[in-house]
Amino acid sequence: MSQLLNPPYVIGMPTETVYGLAARIDCPQGIEAIFKIKERPFFDPLIVHVSSIDQAKSLVSEWPLAAQILAEKFWPGPLTLVLPKADNLNSMITSGLQTVGLRMPRHPLALELIAKEGPLAAPSANKFGKTSPTSADHVRQEFANQVPVLDGGPCEVGIESTVLSVSKDVVSILRPGAVTKGQIEASLPAGTIFADPVDKKSSPGQMKHHYMPNVPLLISDRQNLDLEDIEIKIQKMPKEIEGVKIVKPHQGIRNVKELVLSENPQIASRQLYSELRNLAGEKPDLIVFYRKKIHQTDPWSAIMDRLTKASTLEIK
Ligand code: TXA
Ligand code: MG
Repeated sequence: MSQLLNPPYVIGMPTETVYGLAARIDCPQGIEAIFKIKERPFFDPLIVHVSSIDQAKSLVSEWPLAAQILAEKFWPGPLTLVLPKADNLNSMITSGLQTVGLRMPRHPLALELIAKEGPLAAPSANKFGKTSPTSADHVRQEFANQVPVLDGGPCEVGIESTVLSVSKDVVSILRPGAVTKGQIEASLPAGTIFADPVDKKSSPGQMKHHYMPNVPLLISDRQNLDLEDIEIKIQKMPKEIEGVKIVKPHQGIRNVKELVLSENPQIASRQLYSELRNLAGEKPDLIVFYRKKIHQTDPWSAIMDRLTKASTLEIK
């Protein structure tokens, strides 16, 4: 019997990237509940999670050779393919777009749940704009125990999938993720080229700020911090940018904590969100991340994308 056809119609689902808030794609109450519980704007589409390539093909109107090759190479795994959607797919899932994002996650519990319930729409299981969850406890805390959670342990990858739009001869990265540009490029069939995304509308989730912890995060290329100047700069910023509340210090900056990540990008991505949550839990006035040269290389691009979006301010 399906547990997802009854209230609350959603479940916290472990994946190898981050935990998702999942609902059946044939259950409109569940899809609506996702947007409501997450406080997510309806213009930001959801990824549909599948357990086979055939299931993915049933949800699209085109399946180019590049999609077949990339799915065979990277699924199950952290790559979302954006393709023209099938007509009968609920347009609330795709926010009215003509495309759908599809991914086969690598976590055994997610694959088991999809095999039982069918394809599941699931965004990351955090309130809109906030830090993504990498453990079952993060999800329980985020939604004050209002959502049942399948506990699959800590996430192996730790940051969200790469989102790639795919057409017959062109692919574009809409969101960097665990699968890097280099890995995709090396796998593309002859005749398929890489291009930058055409415009922001092609991926509505590309806000400037996202993933924000509850304490302001500063990215600094310099070791010496002028706290007074930082405070002034932050206080001058608007309260909200693109619907996301900008996190500011409550009363001056005295207590500063440093975010330290491993030099190995795989380990660093696993540490990123849980470290941000741990540090924010200590309630300092500011969290600082010191950016170094190594952070500008391809394996770091997804981590730096998340950190930049999670930060209130960057100092170069
Ligand atoms: O790893 C992940 O991708 C996780 C796990 C749970 O699978 N999910 C996730 O979902 O990060 P979410 O909703 O937090 O982020 C999905 C991103 C958003 O930026 C959204 O705008 C974009 O994917 N997206 C989804 N469908 C799209 C579409 N049809 N066209 C363009 N962008 C799309
Ligand atoms: Mg998200």
